[in-house]
Amino acid sequence: MAIYFDRTTKTFYLEGKDITYAFFINKYGFAEHLYFGKRISRDTLLHLRATGGEVASATVPGNVYNAPFCSYQQFPAELSFFGTGYFNEPTVHLLNAEGDRLTELLYDGYEILDEKPQMKTMPSMRGGKTLKLKLRDYATDFCAELYYTVYDDVSVIARRVVYRNERSEAVKLERAYSFTLSLPDMKRDVISFYGAWASERQIQRTPMHHGVISVDSKVSRSTHLNPSMVIATSNANEEHGEAIGIALMYSSHFVLKAEGLPNGAAQITGGINDFDFEWTLEEGEELETPEVIIAYSDEGIGGMSRELHDAAREYIIDKKFVKKSRPIVINNWEGTYFDFNAEKLKAIADGVRGTGVDTFVLDDGWFGKRNNDRCALGDWWVNEEKLPGGLDAIISHVNSLGMKFGLWFEPEMISEDSDIYRAHPEYAIKAPLRKNCYSRQQFVMDITRADVRDYIVDSVNSILDSHNIEYVKWDYNRHATELYSALLPKDRQSEFAHRYALALYELCERIIKTHPQVFFEGCAGGGGRFDYGMLYYFPQIWTSDDSDAHERTHIQYGTSIIYPMSAMSCHVSAVPNHQTGRSTDMKTRADIAHLGATGYELDTSSFTDDDRNVTRGQVEEYRKHEELILSGDLYRLENPFESNFFAFMAVSKDKGNAILTAYRALGGVNREIYRIKPRGLDKSKKYFVPELNLILGGDTLMNAGLIPPFEDGDFKTVTYHFEEK
Ligand code: DGJ
Repeated sequence: MAIYFDRTTKTFYLEGKDITYAFFINKYGFAEHLYFGKRISRDTLLHLRATGGEVASATVPGNVYNAPFCSYQQFPAELSFFGTGYFNEPTVHLLNAEGDRLTELLYDGYEILDEKPQMKTMPSMRGGKTLKLKLRDYATDFCAELYYTVYDDVSVIARRVVYRNERSEAVKLERAYSFTLSLPDMKRDVISFYGAWASERQIQRTPMHHGVISVDSKVSRSTHLNPSMVIATSNANEEHGEAIGIALMYSSHFVLKAEGLPNGAAQITGGINDFDFEWTLEEGEELETPEVIIAYSDEGIGGMSRELHDAAREYIIDKKFVKKSRPIVINNWEGTYFDFNAEKLKAIADGVRGTGVDTFVLDDGWFGKRNNDRCALGDWWVNEEKLPGGLDAIISHVNSLGMKFGLWFEPEMISEDSDIYRAHPEYAIKAPLRKNCYSRQQFVMDITRADVRDYIVDSVNSILDSHNIEYVKWDYNRHATELYSALLPKDRQSEFAHRYALALYELCERIIKTHPQVFFEGCAGGGGRFDYGMLYYFPQIWTSDDSDAHERTHIQYGTSIIYPMSAMSCHVSAVPNHQTGRSTDMKTRADIAHLGATGYELDTSSFTDDDRNVTRGQVEEYRKHEELILSGDLYRLENPFESNFFAFMAVSKDKGNAILTAYRALGGVNREIYRIKPRGLDKSKKYFVPELNLILGGDTLMNAGLIPPFEDGDFKTVTYHFEEK
């Protein structure tokens, strides 16, 4: 990787594994984008300025370069702003002391940093060589510092902006996005994600058009859709064409916008959602914006995903856990819901003894008077009526089976019917004159308050510190609605959603980082907060409350566009499935759940020796290929949104071994023969395929393909292994 500044042309070249990003400072001091794509030579790129850059359609009032006949609109921006001759979606929009909302951000120097500065208030990618580009509005001394980070082993550029007020008068930010990405054309599609509870990250592909395509969240979590987007050339598929993946490392209100411009070019921008957002910067104050990870590949959407997955595993997710063998849990939630006692829990743990399932996770319902979802959140003390002898009694039983113990919390929530709410009603988010919305019969705590954060940290940490707890599931089961904090001044209430995110990250620092030995899994009413901000703290996140194998082929496919398989927590659950009522084979459920961080979630207390043998076989099988899930390259062979089939293939980095799982949704009679072509193997290597008892060439496998022998019936899977010979 390298960052290079050509003083003659004032061009910056940023080079990652196989990418070049280039922009230059034009004669007006405007940071003008030149190129982002496949790695190229450090040639001049100034001939790419289609209009010559100076065909004016409007007049810029004087600027430091005193160029009266220029409109910045002509230039592809590194940071778009509002007014002063720029008309596209602004990345920053503010209210100056004079009452105008104008900015004109021009070049004010740069630094090249060998060590990437970590953000002070939010998680960001680690490592990487970094360019810090300083822009200044010379009329108001409002500054934007643009950070660009590149890596020599991933085709990813990380970007963010720090906005600073260097003037004595306050400035009010009304929009403070993280980046502008200028693209030369709009002959591209926007792939975005929509979804809801139990139906996360469904895929939507829309051609770019003149105007704006936007996705956002307004509910203080990144939600069941996703703070990410892919911009793919119109012809791009899994293997071919250019794809740019954009993922915000942010867990609250976000927005991403893809804009087709009048001249046929395009501009992408986004970050903290400016809906219901304002942020006041007093003299000398600054605001950090969330980092955005931008991945590029000319090997299709699949190639782009592999770059993002590598970037996440190398530079975002905790190194301690990311590639290490994961806990395989038995979680009691769907087995019992709130209806359990110590004997029942012990029987569930006993049910999987000797199977290799190595962690028992006690889900919701162990604390306060929590016998249903209408009470006790925030009362983080054990319910001794249900669990005589407290947590230690159940922990020692679980440990005696050779298993670890995990515990569920929902740290940010409070029930109206709880001791803590009766003592501190002010801990809940509440707006004056409004009644609270009772989503899932609970309120969100106002964690923007320091006293609330202290309460949460003290109560969770005291449980973690006094018991042998090796795993925590951190849940968050509703949207925040009546956004308001009694401790924020009236004119700062629009800071709430971002302050919520900052407070959440502080909680993670004070609970997760102080318990480095504990494995934390994220969750939010299923996968309602599945983003790289959270993955910085949680090596894996519960992907969805919908654990039906058929639904999961869609949810896991959509999630994998941006996130690695190892980040997706996936459980084998009971049939008929509690969400869909569908019944699928145990084998199918396991084969699909084994394409992520696997586990079990059903009442195993009645497991027979046969059930245990089946489970043992599945766990052994999973452990054999787990490394491929944790570190391998993912090839999506079949898209369930477009066909009756789904297939994932994970290939080791050295292409020495691989696993392919294919799924057919509906069976039928006299259907077309289904042939699948593995990808990602080495065409010159020979592979033993145990399921065929054959040694075949990588070239044969990838070109001639395979015909999976699906059993008769619906919802069937076939798995192949490939071992280099
Ligand atoms: C929602 C989660 O997604 C479930 O797995 C479970 O933990 C429940 N919350 C418990 O309330």
